[in-house]
Amino acid sequence: MIRFEQVTKRYPDGTTAVDDLSLEVDEGELVTLVGPSGCGKTTTMMMVNRLIEPTAGRIFLGGKDIATVDPVRLRRRIGYVIQQVGLFPHRTVLDNTATVPYLIGWKKTRARARAAELLDLVGLDPTTYGPRYPDQLSGGQRQRVGVARALAADPPVLLMDEPFGAVDPVVREQLQDEFLRMQEAVRKTVLLVTHDIEEAVRLGDRIAVYGQGRIEQFDTPGAVLGTPATPYVAEFVGADRGLKRLSVTEIQPSDLEQPPTARLDEPAGRAAARLHREGARWAVVLDAEGSLHGWVGADALGAGGVVRDHAHRMNSWVPVGAPLKQAFGVMLQHDAGWVAVLDGARFLGVLTPAKLHEALRRSVDADARGISRGQVSFDSVADA
Ligand SMILES: Nc1ncnc2c1ncn2[C@@H]1O[C@H](COP(=O)(O)OP(=O)(O)O)[C@@H](O)[C@H]1O
Ligand SMILES: [Mg+2]
Repeated sequence: MIRFEQVTKRYPDGTTAVDDLSLEVDEGELVTLVGPSGCGKTTTMMMVNRLIEPTAGRIFLGGKDIATVDPVRLRRRIGYVIQQVGLFPHRTVLDNTATVPYLIGWKKTRARARAAELLDLVGLDPTTYGPRYPDQLSGGQRQRVGVARALAADPPVLLMDEPFGAVDPVVREQLQDEFLRMQEAVRKTVLLVTHDIEEAVRLGDRIAVYGQGRIEQFDTPGAVLGTPATPYVAEFVGADRGLKRLSVTEIQPSDLEQPPTARLDEPAGRAAARLHREGARWAVVLDAEGSLHGWVGADALGAGGVVRDHAHRMNSWVPVGAPLKQAFGVMLQHDAGWVAVLDGARFLGVLTPAKLHEALRRSVDADARGISRGQVSFDSVADA
């Protein structure tokens, strides 16, 4: 969908900001471009909407060479989100969001209806926030308006330059999560720039790690963390990359252990006898539909009645597909030796620290065996 072919940008003072870059972002894919300050990320991005013209090479959007497209028309197909947001201070949030629809001549009512829809999408109630002015919002809320505004004319492509850079770490994680949820729904082709490897890893389907104007590695987050292609990448992703992998490795059903279970309405004595035979000291308690209720200790079941009478509710669970990091967090938070894994409400099994470690190994080994390197030209890496 976005393709760079041997693109170079040299500024008049001789600075080579981007050096023979080849890179392809597939339709509906979110590629993060990560690297230290001054390595050419913003320059790369601004060449896509022709705010900067390349010195050499070509950029294609949906198969068309953008040099042949009128810049104004081009920009209508590209949403652009920047760190400083750049909202108009004297316009309401609703009108700010409707900026592009107004520009391209939509009727006011249609533009405003669309803006309200988008504010809703980014988690801002349009009746509350629509009439406000930008200085009546928090930094995180302004950033959301920036995203809503970029999506207003429903462009197929979104460019985001350090979009969550200006907010504190907690709000930043929230915005990242919301953005991922939104991206699930709208599936834009996104090129997102950040200097933060954690953010790149969390958000990207693939990550391009930038050195000085060059791509050092272009691959999935797991591969970049697991098998850095160059010493530069290894240094950039950091010594704690094993820990970062926790954020990108998903819990799979095959990672789970199957502990003994008991039904809520089962006679306690029968459950106790079964647990005794299995040598188990506790069981996971499920309802008739197989949904998680909680847990019960084997000793408590001796008192008779049904399992329900002795069962405890349990809040330490995570959905299947969640990152291992989330399961680890829940274990620590509840001081538990295991965490239940659910598919919707259905209980699938439990994740233990040993299984968590195994899952982490599985993900490292998979990368070591080599997985797709994507569609990048490695010429620049080989020359370096
Ligand atoms: N207009 C300009 N003229 C000269 N050099 C520039 C200009 N804009 C950026 N640069 C230089 O190009 C390099 C890349 O800048 P930039 O793309 O903004 O990096 P990043 O976004 O990764 O921080 C830097 O060395 C920067 O100083
Ligand atoms: Mg920049």
